[in-house]
Amino acid sequence: MIKKRILTGDRPTGRLHLGHYVGSLANRVRLQEEYECFFIIADLHTLTTRPEKRHIAQMQEHVRDLVLDYLAVGIDPERSVIFLQSAIPETYQLNLILEMLVSVPRLERVPTLKEMARDANLRTMPFGLLGYPVLQAADILLPRAHLVPVGKDNQAHVEVARELARRFNRLYGEVFPIPECLLGDVPILVGTDGAAKMSKSRDNAIYLSDDAETVRRQVFQMVTDPQRVRADIPGRVEGNPVFIYHDTFNPDREEVEDLKERYRRGRVGDVEVKEKLARALNTFLDPIRQRRADYAARPRLVAEVLAAGNERMRIEARETMVQVREAMGLMSLPLQSEPTTVPAGLVYC
Ligand code: TRP
Repeated sequence: MIKKRILTGDRPTGRLHLGHYVGSLANRVRLQEEYECFFIIADLHTLTTRPEKRHIAQMQEHVRDLVLDYLAVGIDPERSVIFLQSAIPETYQLNLILEMLVSVPRLERVPTLKEMARDANLRTMPFGLLGYPVLQAADILLPRAHLVPVGKDNQAHVEVARELARRFNRLYGEVFPIPECLLGDVPILVGTDGAAKMSKSRDNAIYLSDDAETVRRQVFQMVTDPQRVRADIPGRVEGNPVFIYHDTFNPDREEVEDLKERYRRGRVGDVEVKEKLARALNTFLDPIRQRRADYAARPRLVAEVLAAGNERMRIEARETMVQVREAMGLMSLPLQSEPTTVPAGLVYC
């Protein structure tokens, strides 16, 4: 039985937090069992809003952090492919071809792009940012992926990839499976400040690599029921970040139910609720931190994982481009000399 193929990934912008774990990492670890998984570190996508050299200079560390976080949560490089987008020359090639198959107004209707431009304080829309979903389509179509597990924020991009795959197949012949968006059914984890979403920019995140003391401190700064100014006032459990985290990360259901019950009756202080949450979170994070430290202590490991992943991805990418050129009847491309050895592609490591 041929396994279906998955492609998903992240831009390297920093360490991953509990929101990433709940929203996508846990799911990816599970998906490895059943699917052939490709995980892309989309460094070229960061250039769409941040092309400055000082941002590129930070990428080496971000790529390293991302790989270590992946490995720490249990993404297994023996089974899954972890690779760096910029190390795959075929990405740039397919991107250009796909650009011919989509209109500017279609891309202008993708809602996320305007938000990204605004968040990055860009006054005008860069050509490359408008092409963000096209580049993402190249990522998805290059390994001929069937499934793309992403959050809601990326759904519109996967839709563009589907349209591009259909358009290509209709114009030139069946090369690409139509990729399907696999939306997680997990709710978005609230931030420690009670804001809708855990995010780096809001400073309301607990990172997978935070040490136990940092986690404790973050927990003790967490927002709870704002109405409850004293421990003997009945409190609200629903929508209370402290209990959302208990529900998500504390496996001791009895303890959680007991805390909720006493909280509702005004029989427990925030300190006890938070003390127990800090303990549960640290119990959850301990093995992740331990694995991360073990991997981080091996100096060549990240470079080796990426080199192997890049090489594996390039085999698929070359095969796809052969099919693309054949289908299109593009004669000049196969006559180009291909490098005989796989370039290390390790721009950062
Ligand atoms: N757009 C994704 C993000 O929000 C990153 C990404 C790039 C991606 N290429 C992809 C996700 C391909 C899934 C599939 O950071």
